[in-house]
Amino acid sequence: MSDRPAPESHPAQAPAWVRHAKLRDWVDKMARLAKPERVVWCDGSQAEYDRLCEGLVAAGSLVKLSETLRPGSYLARSHPSDVARMEDRTFICSARREDAGPTNNWIEPAEMRATLARLFDGCMRGRTLYVVPFSMGPIGSPIAQIGVEISDSAYVVVNMKLMTRMGRAVLEHLGADGAFVPCVHSVGAPLVDSFGARRADLAWPCNEKEKWIVHFPESREIWSYGSGYGGNALLGKKCLALRIASVMARDEGWLAEHMLILGVESPQGEKHYVSAAFPSACGKTNFAMLIPPAAFAGWKVTTIGEDIAWIKPGADGRLYALNPEAGLFGVAPGTSEATNPNAMQTLRRNVIFTNVAMTPEGDVWWEEMTKEAPARLIDWQGNDWTPGCGRAAAHPNARFTVAASQCPSMDERWEDPQGVPISAFIFGGRRSSTVPLVVEARSWEEGVYMGATLGSETTAAITGKVGVVRRDPMAMLAFCGYHMGDYFAHWLKMGKAVARPPRIFRVNWFRKDASGKFIWPGYAENMRVLQWIVERCRGSAQGVETLLGVIPRYEDLSWSGMEKFERGRFEEITRVDEKLWGEELKSHDELFRKLAGRLPQALETRRGRMHQKLAA
Ligand code: OXD
Ligand code: MN
Repeated sequence: MSDRPAPESHPAQAPAWVRHAKLRDWVDKMARLAKPERVVWCDGSQAEYDRLCEGLVAAGSLVKLSETLRPGSYLARSHPSDVARMEDRTFICSARREDAGPTNNWIEPAEMRATLARLFDGCMRGRTLYVVPFSMGPIGSPIAQIGVEISDSAYVVVNMKLMTRMGRAVLEHLGADGAFVPCVHSVGAPLVDSFGARRADLAWPCNEKEKWIVHFPESREIWSYGSGYGGNALLGKKCLALRIASVMARDEGWLAEHMLILGVESPQGEKHYVSAAFPSACGKTNFAMLIPPAAFAGWKVTTIGEDIAWIKPGADGRLYALNPEAGLFGVAPGTSEATNPNAMQTLRRNVIFTNVAMTPEGDVWWEEMTKEAPARLIDWQGNDWTPGCGRAAAHPNARFTVAASQCPSMDERWEDPQGVPISAFIFGGRRSSTVPLVVEARSWEEGVYMGATLGSETTAAITGKVGVVRRDPMAMLAFCGYHMGDYFAHWLKMGKAVARPPRIFRVNWFRKDASGKFIWPGYAENMRVLQWIVERCRGSAQGVETLLGVIPRYEDLSWSGMEKFERGRFEEITRVDEKLWGEELKSHDELFRKLAGRLPQALETRRGRMHQKLAA
């Protein structure tokens, strides 16, 4: 069966503007394997986007939202088995197991290729194979990379149009022989079986039995099967821009990080850019789009990116960061006028929503969007919903996909092909105790230790288990394409590769009091911490030395507009409790033991020194 092309399969008919022979051959080979009914090369035009959306509406895969309330917008409802990234189905298939390391799933590459050959044989029968050329980063930027995704999902194509620079212009830049990362995706739900029998399509096709997200780091390839959702299917994002890019970055001397990038401008017009890593569900999008409180007249925060940063050494001895994405793929629940007015503004039009609830008027709703829920809704699975019915209206991982250019806080340099110079790196997690509001590392090495031992408490949206600290080094646990010990070594090396490396800070907005309430108000008030961070970079803010690094005193932060926040409360969230830190170090030990053999000596030594200081 596998060597006989199905009667309905056609070789790829590439349009004349595809000049890259190797790309044509690869698409042809993939089409022979997957046996789609037709092959379509995407040009990335608005007309193509509109046509595909119309087709998805006609097929029942998208619902057109009210043109008055949410112009140009659509809603998709996924299959309940396909609602999030799947870390346990994600594989780094390096030639040697030890190069993937103990924090990644690994399968021997030849065995994995045999499995993929079986899975992809005929997997697109009856469907269209779309060829989606895309650039991560502005086309032609020295930091950008080109990928080509082939997918049998039109939903993926329209999302890729919003999330990346996509289409004909990318191939024109690629020319006849440029390098690209091949990305293969199928929902794993053929419409025609090997005997030619056809079945009806589903609104959200996927494979309920098998899902695979596979990376071959040495040959820089991505294969994804069985899921149509988010990072499993939009292969430019987590798969290329983090897992494969982290390997490229290690080999070529740069950094591919799970970081937002923002700009902070003082009333005097001094501007700093900072890049911050937070694990999922820590409010990264809100921080990236922060609006300073009223008392910070003249201060401005601007957005470069909210999920991923590619960072390269510049000729002036600084690190320069670029957002490789062109769109936002953010979590909707919790987003509101109170928590993120910039995001709400961004979402007014031209959005693809996935798994949010719909109002009877054809608008969208999700938990916490408004204080009171509407009296009636259609929930994310298409069922009637009323407040108090006991079910969530939107899925906790419901998403919006939207062009970043619609966000009012985008920085004027967000598409600068050279990136922007970074003054500070920030590592943050969700910790109800132990970790202070903010602390500055006294050296690059101390900062790398802070990032390497980053931990965050899980939320219901992540695991169902709430409040368990998960070690998530640099927020890259699920996204580093190689051994975590080597990744730490690479970070240590990068500090020496530039004359003026950024300062490094650790933050925690989530300390709770004895009654379980958050002490710090967070959101816009995080500006107070951000101000201290940029003023430390400028050399104008004070702090005190502690076991962990430099921490501001009450008088070192600006309290204008927040005078009611008592000194005692501030001291509570900046206290370093030695007993708790004894426990914390034991959990660092656990992570480090796992990485033994490839853990850089400098981090091992630092941990030993902290143990000694605590014992003394
Ligand atoms: C994301 C994540 O979707 O980090 O960005 O989980
Ligand atoms: Mn992310």
